[in-house]
Amino acid sequence: MTKTLPVSRYPKVTVVGAGNVGATTALLLLMKELANVVLIDVAEGLARGKALDLMHMRSNEHFGPTVVGTGSYEDTADSDIVVVTAGVPRKPGMTREDLAGINASIVHSVLKGALAESPNALYLFVTNPLDVMTNLAVQLAGLPPQRLIGMGGVLDTARFTYAISEATGAAPRDIKALVIGAHGEAMVPLVSLATVAGRPLLELITPGQLAQITEATVQGGAAVVKLLETGSAFYAPASSIVQMVKALLEGSATLHSSCVRLNGEYGISGVSLCVPVLLGSEGVREIIELPLSPEEGEQLHASAESTKAQLERLLQEG
Ligand code: LAC
Repeated sequence: MTKTLPVSRYPKVTVVGAGNVGATTALLLLMKELANVVLIDVAEGLARGKALDLMHMRSNEHFGPTVVGTGSYEDTADSDIVVVTAGVPRKPGMTREDLAGINASIVHSVLKGALAESPNALYLFVTNPLDVMTNLAVQLAGLPPQRLIGMGGVLDTARFTYAISEATGAAPRDIKALVIGAHGEAMVPLVSLATVAGRPLLELITPGQLAQITEATVQGGAAVVKLLETGSAFYAPASSIVQMVKALLEGSATLHSSCVRLNGEYGISGVSLCVPVLLGSEGVREIIELPLSPEEGEQLHASAESTKAQLERLLQEG
């Protein structure tokens, strides 16, 4: 008797890197029933072990999709989305930029393996320094730029929202705010556009509170690194990835600060940077140009210059 395999009703998402960010991303994708997951890592046992643990968990939680762990790119074939989390995280005192050299070689080999198996997928980059790695991937991959996106702004926006919520007592869902620019010290919290229950943030807080909010946003990742001592944040990063994956899978055209290639938007070209983007099933549906204050505009341009300079340094080091 021949058995025909049932056609899965879930999309296929590959998560490269079975560390804390990758594994938590897999967990959330499963619990939210968004996709079947392939968790791949050069440390094959780590990927297989975490996948097995998650499948044991499925017996209790009864989520529909499944996960497999692997060390082989063949298992990732025909993925709808490939999320790249592989790389070395920061240690206390390091900036994200300190990771460029070592993580660039990881991004090289991941792209080689994944692109061969999933040439039509959307690629979501998470490896730090996020902006530099996303720009490097655009250069290496030869994919249409709307299919190659970096995750940074959604995470920075989550931290900005938390800081505003702490300062004002408002619920996060009532806060509309965005952080754009590089996912690093040069990020740009858009204070001029942030609203709390529909009212401008700047009318509700003192200059001192504003300074605290900005500091807590920009240093949010470093604060977690300092406390953990042995790694960097992973719950909020994984949740930010899953927000974006959901928008891409559902084609919801919802707004996310995403690292995408600019082509004249905001007066910037030839570099990928976090800006407000409507995400759709094709990847980048539309880049939204918001009216920034002159200071925010300057900061965004500074972010672009610093990302370009870092990329050039990296390519020269070769
Ligand atoms: C952070 C790292 C993941 O911001 O970039 O926590």
